[in-house]
Amino acid sequence: MKHNIAIISGDGIGPEVMKEAVKVLDRISKKYNIEFNCTNADAGGIAYDKHGTALPEETIKICENSDAILFGSVGGPKWDNLPPEKKIERVALLGLRKRFNLYANLRPAIVYKPLAKASPLRQDIVGDGFDIMIIRELTGGIYFGKRELNEEDAFDEMKYTKEEVVRVAKTAFEIAMKRNKKVTCVDKSNVLSSSILFRKFVTEVSKEYPQVYLDFLYIDNATMQIIKNPQEFDVMVTTNMFGDILSDEAAMLTGSIGMLASASLNEKSFGMYEPAGGTAPDIAGKNIANPIAQILSAAMMLKYSFNLIEASDDIEKAVNKVLEDGYRTGDIMEEGMKKITTSEMGTLIADNI
Ligand code: IPM
Ligand code: MN
Repeated sequence: MKHNIAIISGDGIGPEVMKEAVKVLDRISKKYNIEFNCTNADAGGIAYDKHGTALPEETIKICENSDAILFGSVGGPKWDNLPPEKKIERVALLGLRKRFNLYANLRPAIVYKPLAKASPLRQDIVGDGFDIMIIRELTGGIYFGKRELNEEDAFDEMKYTKEEVVRVAKTAFEIAMKRNKKVTCVDKSNVLSSSILFRKFVTEVSKEYPQVYLDFLYIDNATMQIIKNPQEFDVMVTTNMFGDILSDEAAMLTGSIGMLASASLNEKSFGMYEPAGGTAPDIAGKNIANPIAQILSAAMMLKYSFNLIEASDDIEKAVNKVLEDGYRTGDIMEEGMKKITTSEMGTLIADNI
């Protein structure tokens, strides 16, 4: 079996953590006798410097010829002063999302047991950890509506259609069916029309999934409830902008953003997989960054785009084992643990597969 992967390492720590993810994929390839055909492509600041745009045509072509995109991270202080329409993250990320219709963004916020102490929440709230899957609509809403910026007024349109809500709701219920069968719809339907529509069609889709329990929260309340009682949640489904904010809040609650992966999927299970953290320019090139988020992004790719469930589980188990054995990169270091480098972490995880 052969899978084509577009590898976009990007900027900052991107290349060094990507190297470790590829190391782990090599191990999976040998173990299961599967071929991963990886093609490197430029996006982000590095692409801007080389080609004058953060998302060159050539990169889009490579992605079109692939079954999935494994993405590092893009941007950095060097490019901070570009005008809004050239902003690195905006051009590269929003460009790829729209081009490939990646409407369902899966952002797991998981507290790994060995890292439970890293959560900024009180330990009695964290308990044995929590595992929330935030599903953010990614190609509609206020991110892609009409906008206008004038001297003294400006607006951003937030629009949703039935089709946009139904397809992301289906993703949420399908995923809930494989988890704890609970979906929380997060919106602002006490004020916004687009949220009334969102809630209406999430409710309609829920009728096809009678085994899944559906409840609702307004976004302001949801931001409080995930702090007070994170164990309550299984799958949360929400609009583009609320999902942007809620997923960062949830990531912070885990205390270890260097551990969190994400997937952005279209209806054909083509996906883009990327770590939740940024380019961390301050530590780039030092071989100290945590590669686990990138490695777990590769695991998500195996699961959601290639349906290689066992191989994906292997990677997750290997990550857990290495943490249980007390190995840590600097960002998750605690007293009594063994501090290791980026490449050592990648090797240890690969060796546990
Ligand atoms: C994210 C990022 C992007 C977003 C930015 C960089 C455009 O914050 O992936 O969450 O807002 O979607
Ligand atoms: Mn964000």
